[in-house]
Amino acid sequence: MTNANKALIAQLNNAWPRRATVCDMERFRVDGEFDAGRPDYPVTLVPFFTHEGVQRLDDPVKQDILTWGWIGYNRRTVAAEDHVVNPALNYLASDILPGEDWIFTESIRQTLIDEHYHTLMHLNAIQRTRRQRRIDVDMELPMSVTYRELEKLKQQLVEPWEKQLAAVAFATVAEISVNAFLDILADDQTIQPQNRSVAQLHNRDEYAHSKTLGEIGKVVFHRLTPSQKTFFVTTLPVALRAFVAQDFSMWEAILRQLNVPNAANIIRDCQQSGKGSALTRDYSGLRRLADELGILCELDFDFSDSTTSTGRATTAANTVAAQHAH
Ligand SMILES: [Fe+2]
Ligand SMILES: [Fe+2]
Repeated sequence: MTNANKALIAQLNNAWPRRATVCDMERFRVDGEFDAGRPDYPVTLVPFFTHEGVQRLDDPVKQDILTWGWIGYNRRTVAAEDHVVNPALNYLASDILPGEDWIFTESIRQTLIDEHYHTLMHLNAIQRTRRQRRIDVDMELPMSVTYRELEKLKQQLVEPWEKQLAAVAFATVAEISVNAFLDILADDQTIQPQNRSVAQLHNRDEYAHSKTLGEIGKVVFHRLTPSQKTFFVTTLPVALRAFVAQDFSMWEAILRQLNVPNAANIIRDCQQSGKGSALTRDYSGLRRLADELGILCELDFDFSDSTTSTGRATTAANTVAAQHAH
């Protein structure tokens, strides 16, 4: 028997029509006047913004860095939904959960609808920013380190179920820890109110998703065969590490394409100083799930660095580079 809290899932499912952003687009819509003088993205989330090589740039170039940071963040969020979370949730809904209680399937299907709406919200955010900033050029931006790590892992795997379960491990981490990063954007008073609003709308759904996946994770684990359980226990730490790995690739691409002088040096200075290594994830929910599954001591991962007593991740200014979107 699974020890999932069915009453909590039923409560979340029943509240979905009132709670979900997608269910009331009129009430829960992106809000706030566009103010060209405000940055699109928080300077505190750009690890090198205080570097003298950036500080001496003209203001329009500094603003372009933040605008492309915002566009890049949105693109990575869409990619995370499309390539990591949605395939994994689909696999759970169609292969793992049938035969279990209906409310588990209902819960995942509701979550999938939310995630599809999030991709639309973030694609709209990109279009709105391009229109308001009159951007008619494009930029090549690399996929996130999280996505690259999952793809690397999948290439080493043989069995289809291994690839599917690897995605489930990454999606579980994404779903149960994304709030910390969204909190930073949703609470930031310096950026475009419209952009803050996008993060707020996404975040309100993700608070429910982290509770949902915290319970569904138990049902899923209970459904696995012994060898699948072993695989999941080995893979979860790989996912946990991938989500807090330092990732400057997007910023490097932005600086290079904006022709910022000494871009490589600026990035290298930040990497060496350790900026960008701060946590943008709150792993307290994952630690709790592992504990409830009885696998905490089997996981090759040190949770003590990644959860705080308040349950919120450390979000020190000027130290966040990861851009681990979802
Ligand atoms: Fe989402
Ligand atoms: Fe989600």
